[in-house]
Amino acid sequence: MSQPPLIVLAGGSGFVGRHLAPALVNAGYRVRILTRDASRLRDLRVLPTLETAAHPGIYEPGTLGAAIRGASVVVNLVGILHQGFRQESRFSWVHGLLTDRLLEAARAEAVPRFLHVSALRAELPHPPSAYLRSKAEAEERIRRSGLDWYIVRPSVIYGPDDDFLKRFARLLQWSPGILPLACPKTPLAPVDIADVVRVLRMLIDGATVPAQAMNLEGYETLTLKAVVEAIAETLHLRRLIVGLPDGASWLMGALLQWMPHPPFTLDNYRSLRALSCASAGSVADGFSMLGITPKPFRNRIPAYLESRGA
Ligand SMILES: NC(=O)c1ccc[n+]([C@@H]2O[C@H](COP(=O)([O-])OP(=O)(O)OC[C@H]3O[C@@H](n4cnc5c(N)ncnc54)[C@H](OP(=O)(O)O)[C@@H]3O)[C@@H](O)[C@H]2O)c1
Repeated sequence: MSQPPLIVLAGGSGFVGRHLAPALVNAGYRVRILTRDASRLRDLRVLPTLETAAHPGIYEPGTLGAAIRGASVVVNLVGILHQGFRQESRFSWVHGLLTDRLLEAARAEAVPRFLHVSALRAELPHPPSAYLRSKAEAEERIRRSGLDWYIVRPSVIYGPDDDFLKRFARLLQWSPGILPLACPKTPLAPVDIADVVRVLRMLIDGATVPAQAMNLEGYETLTLKAVVEAIAETLHLRRLIVGLPDGASWLMGALLQWMPHPPFTLDNYRSLRALSCASAGSVADGFSMLGITPKPFRNRIPAYLESRGA
């Protein structure tokens, strides 16, 4: 009997991978997660057709070929929001070099399809932040790869155990009545993890749309301040959320970026600013192209915040 197709998730130990892997297993696929640290996958091991390729040097060229061998699709979920000082924690390494290595291995192993998760506004002609520039450069590498590819560019993703709702819920709980908020007017169209998983599954299943990059924006666009207010309301927290003017937002990023695990950096500030720019040229809307109506943000946050007992 032939085995079910194998889907390899590079960086699949993270938020998106933890939701995508069970969905793929339930759909009958074999799933192999690549991670540098096996302990990150302990709880996922119960999934019947999940394999792991765990090794600190998993993305070394000598190791990567065997790790993706036999895959029908490689999904690249490797990403960081803040870069560190070590070479292996720079955007150029994580988004650039590792994408190159995955593409090279996929070509050598004749993997039929490559899916890549990028970020909204990486499509701008001159992305203003180092994060977005590195995402844009990775996209360019994929376009030139000669593989059958798709790129999805989600807006900020929310869902159970995300970093987005959780972070603001924590900030609100800790704040002493007033929460100063950088970049309050940033327009956000938060996208539900269930919708992102649905899109990735359709592209893995073999959607009949041509290879292309597509943006994934949620059902409604709210300012960052309105998003934080909605979270406070859900948690029944009476907080005064004070939007900082632009100069103070810049200063907050400039100061906080020197913390060991910075909650906000100057580069984050620049990425948020980019969300106020209209996207350049004609950009494919992934949800409408694939016939999906994204879920409304406000209706879903109570369930997601409660699911983790925030
Ligand atoms: N979450 C969002 O709101 C959002 C929005 C837009 C775009 N995206 C993009 O979507 C992708 C998945 O996001 P996510 O939220 O699932 O991210 P995540 O939870 O941070 O997980 C990313 C994974 O990348 C791997 N990784 C990080 N640094 C690495 C390094 N130096 N070398 C090798 N691997 C490294 C980690 O795997 P190991 O430590 O196990 O090796 C980690 O599990 C990312 O590319 C992200 O930029 C996310």
